[in-house]
Parts: sequence; structure tokens; C-alpha cells
Amino acid sequence: MSGSKKINYLIQSGGGFSGEITVPGDKSISHRSIMFGSLAKGKSEVTGFLEGEDSLATLKAFSKMGVEIIGPENGKLTIEGVGMHGLDVPDSALDLGNSGTSMRLMSGLLSGQSFKTILVGDKSLSGRPMKRVTDPLAQMGASIDTNNGTAPLKINADNNLHGIEYDMPIASAQVKSCLLLAGMYASGKTCVTEPGITRDHTERMLKAFGYPVEVSGNKVCIEGGHELTACQIQIPADISSAAFFLVGASISPNANLLIKNVGVNPTRTGVIDVLKLMGANITLENSRMFGGEPVADIRVQSSQLKGIQIPEELVPLAIDEFPVLFVAAACAEGRTVLTNAKELRVKESDRIQAMADGLVTLGVDAMSTEDGIIIEGGQIGGGTVKSFDDHRIAMAFTIAGLRASDQIEILDCANVATSFPGFIELVNSIGLTATANVTVEQ
Ligand code: S3P
Repeated sequence: MSGSKKINYLIQSGGGFSGEITVPGDKSISHRSIMFGSLAKGKSEVTGFLEGEDSLATLKAFSKMGVEIIGPENGKLTIEGVGMHGLDVPDSALDLGNSGTSMRLMSGLLSGQSFKTILVGDKSLSGRPMKRVTDPLAQMGASIDTNNGTAPLKINADNNLHGIEYDMPIASAQVKSCLLLAGMYASGKTCVTEPGITRDHTERMLKAFGYPVEVSGNKVCIEGGHELTACQIQIPADISSAAFFLVGASISPNANLLIKNVGVNPTRTGVIDVLKLMGANITLENSRMFGGEPVADIRVQSSQLKGIQIPEELVPLAIDEFPVLFVAAACAEGRTVLTNAKELRVKESDRIQAMADGLVTLGVDAMSTEDGIIIEGGQIGGGTVKSFDDHRIAMAFTIAGLRASDQIEILDCANVATSFPGFIELVNSIGLTATANVTVEQ
């Protein structure tokens, strides 16, 4: 009988990051490349696709709905688009694994189809809030059954969506994107206003695929009934994956690291802004446009970081990077305070609590608050911490090893494969000593 695979990391203390690296493709853009490529007319070619479990879950879901997708091979994909109304009825539920982006964006897109679908996910995804998408979708005329506001989502056939004006109560690119995707199938105009700026990959990619979208300030509007036309998509490296190395090189002695071809869309660069406010030595080189997205090589050198009050407007722009920013704060001189970041409690894990618990285990003075955390910089010690099956918690504590006084064991790291295949090999290649210990539980 085969059992489930468990992966724990063991990180030796010390080391430093130097050299030149490339991190995997952007996860947000990879998901969207499959969705838009599938619904477009014609053949789209993608390079730089993230071959991680999350984006592969989206790929498999669209294959199951009859889309012919060749690849990925070395990040290259060819998608034979079936047009806006060409998806087939899947023969069973679509399993989206750990991926909130897949489930939330697809709930919008599938609300506009003429067939029923069921979306399921793993334990973490099945506990994450879905009312934030099903409520506004219901206002558009969609009918979705949930399990008390969580997955599985049963999306009933509906061809009668209508546009709405929606003021989003939370800053969420997933909610915005979900409604824009539903808006493509709705009569009239769908307008979404966000309370803070969030990542704009959906808007950029709609334009690249020739679908009209109006953006003015914090408001985005889309009209139903237009078409997507196939195009070439070049996906840059993911700044959320680069973030582990931005912090790693900042906190390690004698570091000089170049991270190549990183997407530096201004809606994603909050991590650079926060680190610079803390005194990090980060410079952008070779800035250029690449497939409709700004890209640069990022050089990071060692620095003595200092604690800061993190500006609230930067929170949505660095939302996925906080676990590793908390490690930066633990190595900084003085106190770092984060507020207005409640959303971190409903990510793949409760990232405020997961990081506060782990940092305290490692001897750091960290205290969670309702909507953030307070961290006093000091010495990181050794010990065993839990990742709560969250990829970014596992990778953040790996980086902590660079400044720890003793080895760190991190439990349940298998989900690193959702966003960063090859992470352990990469950290080992540039100056950290880490092993992934695999056991099979019966
Ligand atoms: C994402 C949006 C963010 C982010 C997630 C990816 C996207 O989620 O945390 O990893 O691709 O739109 P929220 O919209 O829930 O903040």
C-alpha cells in the first residue's frame, strides 16, 4: 500500500548567498496564461510557465475541459484555444489542490458557462473563505452552492449573468479577477472598485489578448461579449519567489547576489520597498519590458537592516512576501510593526500565527496582533518549527537558517512544490546547507 509523502527540511546554521540565479516563473501570470489561452481563438505560445503544482492544477482543469495543451517542457507551452464558449463539460470535479487563485478565478469564469462544474481542493483550500467571490457572483446572477462559504463549490449552469458595480470590501486581486472573468460572460458592464491597489496581471493580460478593459484609478470595468485572441506570453520570474533571496542576501554576511529576469510590476514590488525602508542594499539592473510586464535583474548585497513600521499602503503590494519579511525583521536592529494585514490569516495557513509561533520557538521576541505582528530584532536560535503545510512558511524558515545560531528543522514542507520546484537545490547551490528528508507515512 502506498502512503503519503512527508518532507521535512533540515537547515544548517550560517552561510551566505552569492552568485547569479534565476527563480521559477510567476505563479499569478502562469495561472492566467492557461485561462486566457484556453478561452482565446487560436494558438497561444507561453514561455517561462511555472511548473509548480498550483499552476499545473489549473492546466489539468482546462485539459479536463477539452483544451489541448502541449507541454510544459522547460517552461514552454502551446495552448490550442477553444474560444469563449468552446469548453467541454468535465466528467468529474475539478481538483485545484492547494491553489486559491485557481479556485477563485475559475469560479468567475465557470459561472458564465452553460454547464455545471464542481471545484474541490485540498484540506487548506477547503478551509479558505469563498464567500468573497460567491457573494458578488450571486449579485451577477450566478448560482453557486458552497459548504458554509467554503469549497467544494458547485457552480450551476447559468447563461444569464449581468454586469454589476462592485465596491470590494477587501483589497484582493483574486476577487477583482474573478469578477472580471465573469464580466466577460455577463450582459452589460461589470465594474470593480478596489480599496487599495492590487496586482493588475488580469487587466494587462486581457489587453494583450485583445479584450477591451477600462482602467481608471482604482476602478476597472469590462463589458461582456467580446473575444480573446491568442498571443505569445513571456512569463517573467516570480518576485514572490525572488523575495526569499532578497531577504536571504540582505541578512547574510558578504553576500552579493544577482537574481535574473524578475517581474517588477509596480503592483508586486512592495517587498523591495519594505526592504529598502529597512535599509537593504537592493538595485535594479537592466530594466526592460518583457511580454507586457516590467522586468529587471535585481542585485542584493548584505546590509544591516533596521526595524520599521510597515506603511499600510504597501501591504497589498507585498501580501505574499510577509513570511520572509518577518525573518528580515527578526534580523533587524529594533522593532518592526505590521498592521492592517488581517488577510494574512486566511492564506494557505494563518501566516501571522504560523510565523509568530515559529519565531518564538526560535527564541525571537515576536507577538501576533489581530491584524499583524510586532517583532523585536535579535538573535535567531535553533529548533523545530511547523510550516502548517504552507509553502511560504517553509521557505521563510529555511532563509532564517542563514542567521540562526543552531540548526532549524522545518516540518511538512512538501507544498514548497506548489510554487517553487527546485528550491532546496537552489539554496544549496548558492551558500546555504539544507536537506529535504522524505518519509512515506503508511
Ligand atoms: C493572487 C492574489 C493574491 C495572492 C495570491 C495570488 C493572484 O491573493 O495572495 O497568492 O494571482 O491574483 P488575494 O487576492 O486573496 O490577496
